[in-house]
Amino acid sequence: MTGFSFSLSATDGKARTGAITTLRGTIRTPAFMPVGTAATVKAMLPESVAATGADILLGNTYHLMLRPGAERVDRLGGLHEFMNWSKPILTDSGGFQVMSLAGLRKLTEEGVAFKSHIDGSRHMLTPERSMEIQRLLGSDIVMCFDECPALPAEEKAVAESMRLSMRWAQRSRDAFGDRPGHALFGIQQGGVTRDLRAESAEALQEIGFDGYAVGGLAVGEGQEIMFDVLDFAPDMLPVDKPRYLMGVGKPDDIVGAVKRGIDMMDCVLPSRSGRTGQVFTRRGVVNIKNARHADDPRPLDEGCSCPACRGYSRAYLHHVFRAQEMISGMLLTWHNLQYYQDLMAGMREAIAAGTFCDWENQFHADRALGDI
Ligand code: GUN
Ligand code: ZN
Repeated sequence: MTGFSFSLSATDGKARTGAITTLRGTIRTPAFMPVGTAATVKAMLPESVAATGADILLGNTYHLMLRPGAERVDRLGGLHEFMNWSKPILTDSGGFQVMSLAGLRKLTEEGVAFKSHIDGSRHMLTPERSMEIQRLLGSDIVMCFDECPALPAEEKAVAESMRLSMRWAQRSRDAFGDRPGHALFGIQQGGVTRDLRAESAEALQEIGFDGYAVGGLAVGEGQEIMFDVLDFAPDMLPVDKPRYLMGVGKPDDIVGAVKRGIDMMDCVLPSRSGRTGQVFTRRGVVNIKNARHADDPRPLDEGCSCPACRGYSRAYLHHVFRAQEMISGMLLTWHNLQYYQDLMAGMREAIAAGTFCDWENQFHADRALGDI
């Protein structure tokens, strides 16, 4: 396929750094994708998201098909134009969100019939309709339509669900067709079982995709089990294609995933936490609501270049959070997204320099110190 490529520039252990090239720009990997579910990264202007160093955003089929509608976005020039973001966009396929958000659902071989969580209206998502919606949105990286069971689950149920997702992966591939400049990613399922993960990886490679996601993790299994799976699951996917861990995670999850060979991640955590007063710093999580910040003239994080840290004290951030002023969500979201992007940049540099192990030790040592 033309207009989309991935090249690795260095590896350090299993950790990899490189770049994905698309018609809308280059994505430096390992990459963190901020989540722009409803055609906005909440509380952020798109140019501010770009200023943090984000090369790509994630959008959601499920939310956008319900509101404002994929056909409407298409008529308005596509999602990039609609939300004023000209860099790459990856869209999730809707299968996962339907199962976690929609009202009454009916899962069949054909797809998922469901009721909207917004107004109760009836809808149907199939691999074919998901591909059509993601095309109407103008997504640069399209995800296969899949299904993902919550863990823990019976192995038999996980196996059946994974095989359904693999049949849907073939239908997604067929419906996607040949679209130069647009990539289609497969999604590995199979829960925590090695054999099922291997079967899924093989089925996907048989079909052939531009990149491969590890799905079905961070769904209630805990970090230890997730890392156990990541010790073998990424190795089952092609070395020369991007590997995307869906819906992860906390900063230490991300570092552990990169260490195990993951190239891309997304999570609502930095943006959502920004609105609830949870702040990520090199020295761990800070809750700005805490009374100890009320008289503190120091910035959140001395080493951070974001507007919240350059222009404001902890006392001010504490005050506007308590007063429920809109600037609170704006500043804390910016800081959290900056922290995540700086984390990725630090890992990319360390992998390129062959010092990832030292970098990781320093990451954990800084956090062990606790907040200033
Ligand atoms: N987001 C987090 N996990 C998943 C998954 O397994 N599949 C999809 N489509 N999206 C996800
Ligand atoms: Zn900051």
